[in-house]
Parts: sequence; C-alpha cells; structure tokens
Amino acid sequence: MFSPRSIGVVRTPYSQTKEIPKGLGVKHEAQGVLEISPEFESGLADIEGFSHLFVVWVFDRSEGFERYGPTPADNRPHGVFATRSPRRPNPIGLTVVELLRRDGRFLHVRGVDMLDGTTILDLKPYMSSIPAEKLRRGWLAEAEAAQKS
Ligand SMILES: C[S@@+](CC[C@H](N)C(=O)[O-])C[C@H]1O[C@@H](n2cnc3c(N)ncnc32)[C@H](O)[C@@H]1O
Repeated sequence: MFSPRSIGVVRTPYSQTKEIPKGLGVKHEAQGVLEISPEFESGLADIEGFSHLFVVWVFDRSEGFERYGPTPADNRPHGVFATRSPRRPNPIGLTVVELLRRDGRFLHVRGVDMLDGTTILDLKPYMSSIPAEKLRRGWLAEAEAAQKS
C-alpha cells in the first residue's frame, strides 16, 4: 500500500453537506475551483485540452462506514459498493467535472458535489469508450422508473 498525499483542495459553495443537492436524478451544476498545490502545478501541463476531468478526492468529513444501508436515492438499502455513499471503507470520492478554464494552478470547473476545502488526491482526463446502450444502471434505473410511474 501507499500513503496518499494531497495534491490540493477544492473550493466550492458548500460549507455543509445539507447544502449539496442529493437524491434521484440530481444534477450538479455548481461551479468551483480546484486549487492545486504549487509543487504539483507542472503536472497540469496540457490539461486545458480536456473538456472533463475525473477528480479523486477524500470524504474528509465522513466517519466510519456501513457495508449495507440506506441511500437518499432509493427507499431500499443497498451494498456500499453499489452506491456512491460517503461512508465507505476507504473514504474516496470520485466526481466528473467540466473544465471551464485554467488559471495557473487554479482550475475553474462546473459540477462540484464536495464540501469546500475537500482534499484532492488526483486528477485524470475523463474518457469513456463504453457506448450508452451497453451501460446498465441497476437499482438506480429501477428507482427512477418507480418514481416516474
Ligand atoms: C453521494 S456523495 C458522491 C460523491 C462523488 N460524486 C462520488 O461518487 O464519490 C456526495 C455527498 O458526499 C458528502 N460530502 C461531500 N464532500 C464531503 C467531504 N469532504 N467529507 C464528507 N462528506 C462529503 C455530501 O453529503 C455530498 O452530498
């Protein structure tokens, strides 16, 4: 194993979890800034060419974990690895954001769903080669269908 290191923090409009939109069909449109530490700025070279990024981050204000439990997106409990719950054995978050612009070591993005000051572990360019018709969305699709009916 390795000891994770922070590469920066996320600036978002959210100081409390209750302010972050949740639940079925939620869209994250809030803008934020990924503030990358000066020691890693050279690692941002050429990132401007990508429209979207994966942000790997730490649920640094969640405690403990539950293997099986409730989620705000459904009235049935699910296994932690079938959800995006903050309460997981390794408290790692993953968010896809749209890169709006780069200003030195500051990346202005849209689509943040983390608390202000959240620790960033990594950034990667977003890419997916999976065609939409091959994607299955499990219990989430069932919950969405139930909500519509
Ligand atoms: C459902 S999780 C999804 C996060 C990410 N998109 C993912 O899939 O890993 C988002 C929720 O995590 C919680 N959260 C956000 N930032 C956090 C932080 N720094 N520490 C603990 N919980 C956090 C908030 O309740 C927020 O609504």
